[in-house]
Amino acid sequence: MTQRNIFNTGGADLKQIVVPLLAWYRANQRILPWRENTDAYRVWVSEIMLQQTRVDTVIPYYNRFLERLPNIKSLAEVPEEELLKLWEGLGYYSRVRNMQKAARMIMDTFGGNFPQEYGDILSLPGIGPYTAGAISSIAFGRPVPAVDGNVMRVLSRITESGADIADPAVKKQMTAALAAIYPAGSCGDFTQSLMELGAIVCLPNGAPLCGRCPLNGICRACQSGRQMDYPVQAPKPERRREPKTVLLLCCGDFVALRRRPEGGLLGGLWEFPCLDGKMTANQLSACLAELGVCTRSIEKAGIQRHIFTHVEWQMHAYRVVCTEQASPFRWVTRTALEEQVALPTAFRKLCRYLPA
Ligand code: ADE
Repeated sequence: MTQRNIFNTGGADLKQIVVPLLAWYRANQRILPWRENTDAYRVWVSEIMLQQTRVDTVIPYYNRFLERLPNIKSLAEVPEEELLKLWEGLGYYSRVRNMQKAARMIMDTFGGNFPQEYGDILSLPGIGPYTAGAISSIAFGRPVPAVDGNVMRVLSRITESGADIADPAVKKQMTAALAAIYPAGSCGDFTQSLMELGAIVCLPNGAPLCGRCPLNGICRACQSGRQMDYPVQAPKPERRREPKTVLLLCCGDFVALRRRPEGGLLGGLWEFPCLDGKMTANQLSACLAELGVCTRSIEKAGIQRHIFTHVEWQMHAYRVVCTEQASPFRWVTRTALEEQVALPTAFRKLCRYLPA
């Protein structure tokens, strides 16, 4: 059975967008470090960083990352702790771990050269259809679209599509519709022109800047004045709230860290020892005694919220002065904590509660 086409262009001829969009992009694109040249490694790093993270935030990370790890070989060989430290603050650490896995695979399987075939690119860890499309088109000039939420917003408005962009079938159909109009010789610019329009003109949330849009004569939503009704997106489930008790265990200038279990949220990363639920100082005291931690004092330090994609932590932090460096933990100096350890932002936020 063939799938019903949920996204249809409503008769709009999508091909009309190519020439004005390319001309607009060439005249108006932002100067961004990953646009200096279109080497596949550089495009790859930028696209991974830009997933879930804003351009302004990414730029300094990107420059520092490329300075330290200028090519695939250096990424394949860097020690994990240093790699994670370069990523600290960007979140979603599995992105960079997968990048290292992919770099090692490129060294072992592709002779150290970034593969050029779409299927090979897609086979690399951490690379899905969006990133593979971006690399194929921007670095290798292939007519493969890269469709993310921004591009779907642009397409939904141009065509006044009421299809739910949270439905993976819609993304597939939008990808197919774009693939059919990719301009030979300008594939990379076309990919980036769609991203750029979504980023600086066809804005989410607030009203789009239709007066500056090269497609305002073509866009159906602009013509009907219903820009804000698109894209249509099924509501996401509400975030779960989880209380946590976080222990800032201090012993002289040393602070205790523990590695989180592999696999789950922030899997395998360092944390301040952390317990589920909100505990009182008395409960905590019993818990620490059971763990063999000898304490001099336990005091409430503060409460901090941290939002992840699907869950929100309400962290109740306690400052605990210990009389010795109990063995289940890694004890690091404050300097090492700052300079060497990659500490997820949720826990980094609590450093302000450490003793001065
Ligand atoms: N967002 C995702 N990819 C991008 C790119 N190449 N340039 C600007 N914003 C982006």
